[in-house]
Amino acid sequence: MHKKSKFTSYSLFASCVAAIGGILFGYNTSVISGVLLFISHDFGLSTIEQELIVSTLLIGALIGAFFGGFIADSFGRKKTLFFTLVLFFIGVLTLTEASGFHMLLWGRFISGLAIGIVSMAVPLYIAEMSPPENRGALVSINQLCITLGILIAYLVTYGYSESGQWRDMFGFAFIPIGLQFVGLFLIPETPSWLISHDKKERAEKILSKIRISHEGEDLAKIERSEDEPTKKNWRELFNPHVRMPFFIGIGVAVFQSITGINTVIYYAPQIFQLAGFEAAKTALFATVLLGIVNVLITIVALWLIDRLGRRPLLIGGLLGMGTSLVVLGFTFLSKSEAAGFTAVGALMAYIAFFAVSLGPVAWLIISEIYPLGIRGRAMGIATFTNWVSNYFVSLTFLTLIGVLGSPGTFWLYAFICICGLFFVIRFVPETKGKTFEQIQSFWKKP
Ligand code: BGC
Repeated sequence: MHKKSKFTSYSLFASCVAAIGGILFGYNTSVISGVLLFISHDFGLSTIEQELIVSTLLIGALIGAFFGGFIADSFGRKKTLFFTLVLFFIGVLTLTEASGFHMLLWGRFISGLAIGIVSMAVPLYIAEMSPPENRGALVSINQLCITLGILIAYLVTYGYSESGQWRDMFGFAFIPIGLQFVGLFLIPETPSWLISHDKKERAEKILSKIRISHEGEDLAKIERSEDEPTKKNWRELFNPHVRMPFFIGIGVAVFQSITGINTVIYYAPQIFQLAGFEAAKTALFATVLLGIVNVLITIVALWLIDRLGRRPLLIGGLLGMGTSLVVLGFTFLSKSEAAGFTAVGALMAYIAFFAVSLGPVAWLIISEIYPLGIRGRAMGIATFTNWVSNYFVSLTFLTLIGVLGSPGTFWLYAFICICGLFFVIRFVPETKGKTFEQIQSFWKKP
């Protein structure tokens, strides 16, 4: 009987260092909701200027994601993480030192570029540093860090809300930046990237450190199949056996945003106020609770993802998200206190179902289904579509509430969850426990 490969503490360490990028992603996207009030006051910002400051980060992120894949395929995964960290540093420094609207805008744009790149580079790095049996849990450490970053941002802005020191709120990000800077010197380039650039010897050395392998196995073979594309060429994305994972990756990435998660993450206090909790403090407190649920349930997902598999989590999660949104919609039809509490419960359930499914699984799937030679670029494009749809959903949310009303808006997201459910059932393959090579041979089947 063969021994199952397991991850070593070395691959766990490397995954955790990379996943600090997830904290920066979560923190920088969420901190603005707490900061906005104070910078608007200090610099006398108009509504349009405020909207620009919020949305510029998303524009930066979608541009960053688009180019991130090229950088990762050409220069390596680790250098990409370094480069991103420099961008984060410049972005956060510009924000903490901002003397007016334009500097704020630049700071948000540069941080956005970094977030876009990091959102694809971290899952990519970890996926290539993990043995197949634990890839789900290790890659999902990134999602856990994103949720932690979001929660820390809620807590930091809550803590500073009396004093209004917004420069410190932005500047808090220097802590994870410093930690990752040190950590990056201690972790290697991924074996897959080294193999795709003909550095087989170094790759084998690293492979032997990151997994306890099956006896007598040729480690390098795990990563490479002969007919994989390796040239840096756009057309490879449309090869017959690449087209299908390309389409599925984009589908999963887009459904992750258009099922409405960031209406809740970005606008939670406003939703709670719509549901009848008018005091700002109560709404903020409920928002912190949401952040805690998001973190805790992501831990459950880490435990389940390599046991149950990706498909059951996606299917169960999408069903639960859809049902919670239908209930949430109904709560807006009544003004009673019971309806307000049901709304909070429905939102918590919605976040919990997201945290156990689309949250971690979307990033995981797009990090594992592509062939090695184009993995970075394909993942960059899937991530780009995630940020484009995220931008679109965030931009239209308040308008939709005006046009369709709150119930109609949430029922629309519920309908999209059902479409996502059909998409998963029909197209998304199970990748639990499979090596990259096995996943590739799956696509080649007629
Ligand atoms: C998504 C983000 C979202 C976060 C919430 C991530 O996986 O990509 O858009 O804000 O999860 O936990």
